[in-house]
Amino acid sequence: MKNDLISVADLTPEQITGLLDLALELKSKLKQGRAEPLLEGKTLAMIFEKPSLRTRVTFDVGMAQLGGHAVYLGPNQIQLGKRESVADVARNLGRWVDAVMARTFSHQTIVELARNVEIPVINGLSDLEHPCQVLATALSLREKRDSLDGLNVVFVGDGNNVANSLMLLCPRLGMNFVIACPEGYEPNRELTEQARLFAQRRGTTIHILHDPYQAVKGADLIYTDVWASMGQEAEAEKRRKVFGPYQVNGRLLESAKPGCLVSHCLPAHRGEEITDEVLDGPSCMALDEAENRLHIQKAILVSLMR
Ligand code: CP
Ligand code: NVA
Repeated sequence: MKNDLISVADLTPEQITGLLDLALELKSKLKQGRAEPLLEGKTLAMIFEKPSLRTRVTFDVGMAQLGGHAVYLGPNQIQLGKRESVADVARNLGRWVDAVMARTFSHQTIVELARNVEIPVINGLSDLEHPCQVLATALSLREKRDSLDGLNVVFVGDGNNVANSLMLLCPRLGMNFVIACPEGYEPNRELTEQARLFAQRRGTTIHILHDPYQAVKGADLIYTDVWASMGQEAEAEKRRKVFGPYQVNGRLLESAKPGCLVSHCLPAHRGEEITDEVLDGPSCMALDEAENRLHIQKAILVSLMR
């Protein structure tokens, strides 16, 4: 069976730990000037239906550092599913490149790409999940804490793609997961069931709450993200009202454990889901996490493409 990274649910705890170990090794070698061209001559196609800073730059730079090459295919270039069907795009790419990374509106588009091509397909964000992001969260936590076991990760905000992936990741690494969201904005129901089953087996917990102050009690990491994701721009005004009480600010942080970390996948809407004081404060690891996108994705590329 070919290897893809479409959902965090595709990964076993051992595979995740393996990726984190490899990312730390690649990062350390890069910093010492000992990076190796592990993907020499290999090409990654990058399909983007939505904008990106971090995902585009880190996959591109990552391939270059590994001795390979990345090809950027933007929203207006291939017009996925309009100029040509998703399946036909996949079949063509499979003849030229060694892997595909895709950022799409519909999660099904990534599933469809993977179904029609023999080479690995990586989810660079869909409406359902953002696996590369939360693996970078785990890598950053590994660097900052002696052990991940038993840590309490609290997501404050919308039950969106990042929240879904974080909820699937936490039990796989022995961490408890809590989300505080407005009613009607809970994480995906099916993925919640999957995460709960995994948590039960692992002896960790998943809680969905609506009071952010109750949720962050005992938090080791508070995570947040925009209230309206890409593709939900028409709802932004309504969401600003609904999500007002879910802002991550100094007062909320005071209710968490002393030393609690904060993160955000970025881009942030400063003054909405997070205040400047917190985003630019000493507890925030968002930029370290953004840096780690590079290192964890290099580990993913090496694991899938070698
Ligand atoms: N966090 C993240 O994926 O950033 P971009 O949307 O800029 O790629
Ligand atoms: N939830 C956000 C994440 C951006 C990296 C979005 O989908 O727009």
